[in-house]
Amino acid sequence: MAILDLNEALSRGRRSQGSVYINMPPQVRSGKKNDFMVGRFLNKDQDAEFKIWEEYIFAPVLEYGTGIYEADVEGSEYNGQQYLTVHRIERSEDPSLKKRDFLESIPQEDILALWKKAKRSLNEAGTSDLCWMLIDQIINAPEIKGRFMIEGAAISHHDSVIGGLAHHTLKMLRILAVMIEDNPFLQEHCDLLVMGVFLHDIGKIFEYDELEMAPYWYANHRVQGIEYLARFKDDIITAYNEAFYRQLQSIISGHHGEYGDRPTTVAAGIVHYIDTAESQVTELIELEQKSPDSRIYVRDWGYLAGLNY
Ligand SMILES: [Fe+2]
Ligand SMILES: [Fe+2]
Repeated sequence: MAILDLNEALSRGRRSQGSVYINMPPQVRSGKKNDFMVGRFLNKDQDAEFKIWEEYIFAPVLEYGTGIYEADVEGSEYNGQQYLTVHRIERSEDPSLKKRDFLESIPQEDILALWKKAKRSLNEAGTSDLCWMLIDQIINAPEIKGRFMIEGAAISHHDSVIGGLAHHTLKMLRILAVMIEDNPFLQEHCDLLVMGVFLHDIGKIFEYDELEMAPYWYANHRVQGIEYLARFKDDIITAYNEAFYRQLQSIISGHHGEYGDRPTTVAAGIVHYIDTAESQVTELIELEQKSPDSRIYVRDWGYLAGLNY
């Protein structure tokens, strides 16, 4: 069954059927007569609210939760708000359909091109081959099945798309390259900073699962990143020394600045500032691009007029 075009399906009175994806647990609310379900379907840049009025119809969603379903829907409207009334919904049995088919993604060739660019400038800044070899070993370890290149950087903030984690990381590396170039003192510590940026969010592959919360999300990505790094402890200490390994741990644990465990090293502070600059600027751009009137709301600042305002 084809993936349902949500925008088309929303037109009032239209009946359609197709595959749909629910990425966040829907809510069951109590109505006048009986309980009903409200949730959202997601398909790339499309996003539609759905309502299921009968308990026997929403029972499978309650049982299986988030995931891919086959549904019969009807475009509906109430007080000017469009939504889909679901008349039938069952869990999809189609093994060829993956969550990532419903998610926006950054083309892998764009990520690889950015990687090449970042690597070129970081090589000029003095990154060693040993550093690249270790990074390659860590992010391509068979047990993580290439997920560093697939996972998103966030679920609802900046770079919340397939490939977003690698994209965010590589954009940070490009900023780092300029900073190293402009600060001779940093050149002496190039490998640590490059590896620290590369691995600061590696734990997100355990916190998220293709842009859904993973089962053990509550042990956050800093904790799980440090745990993952420990598998390579001996290799890192052999290549450098124990201080290098401990500094890497401090980068992962302290990279959220005042929003997590505070930085305990200058390296963690530097990675925190680059992380903040990259993610916040990306978020401002994404917010403006999504805004219908080029005005965006930022907590603590209020409304900002966009570049196209
Ligand atoms: Fe992080
Ligand atoms: Fe980050």
